[in-house]
Amino acid sequence: MARKPIIAGNWKMYKTHLEAIALVQKLHYLLRPEDHDKVETVVCPPFTALRAVQTFIEGDNSSIELGAQNCHWENEGAYTGEIAPPMLARLKCRYVIAGHSERRQYFGETDEIVNKKAKAIFANGMTPIVCVGESLEQRDAGETESFVEQQVRGSLAGLTADQLKEVVVAYEPIWAIGTGRNAQPSDANQVCGLIRKTAGSMKGDTGALRIQYGGSVKPGNIKDFMAEDNIDGALVGGASLEAEDFALIVRYRE
Ligand code: 13P
Repeated sequence: MARKPIIAGNWKMYKTHLEAIALVQKLHYLLRPEDHDKVETVVCPPFTALRAVQTFIEGDNSSIELGAQNCHWENEGAYTGEIAPPMLARLKCRYVIAGHSERRQYFGETDEIVNKKAKAIFANGMTPIVCVGESLEQRDAGETESFVEQQVRGSLAGLTADQLKEVVVAYEPIWAIGTGRNAQPSDANQVCGLIRKTAGSMKGDTGALRIQYGGSVKPGNIKDFMAEDNIDGALVGGASLEAEDFALIVRYRE
């Protein structure tokens, strides 16, 4: 089944709204229409920059898609400091990252919380990018597959068959994030195959499910990941903060 590659930039806690405008502008002018035909390109700025980036995308008729990095699972309420899914939907976010390892690690997000967020994101007409991935200790202990399978089952529990086709899963081994030490593409592909199989065992056919690899993706290694049959894109941190590097990653075929 042909799956359109999806390459997303997770800007994390970088870029003021002014810096964000400059970055998306530069990226927009670097990417050509044929790049967008071949690859879905998403940027996920911090909350404070979403409106500015959305205004640019709309004003310039850019094919870059907008994503957010997180959200609450309730549609509104007394949750000081949180952002609700309808607020993101109104900003024309198409994607929302759920359960990034940094949120799991530093903000106590469990599979149960990630699952609630994924459902809330779908309920508001957006698509979750659900992140999973093992720590170095788990990898060394040979627990990668059992741990990732458990994360997939917990985070995607109760999604409908259609949602399981639409959801994007990002496999990001924690030890590869921000370390310059990327996973071996064939190892990553093996885990991504397991993710596809696990999701398939939950509800039918996941031939359309798109799975990204994340962790020290750079212009120099993206091609090797994209050559693997179960890897359909990338979730890029550091290299997405430089427009030229991110554009090279989107154009991995060249
Ligand atoms: P790096 O690309 O900086 O390793 O970050 C990966 C990541 O966490 C993307 O969500």
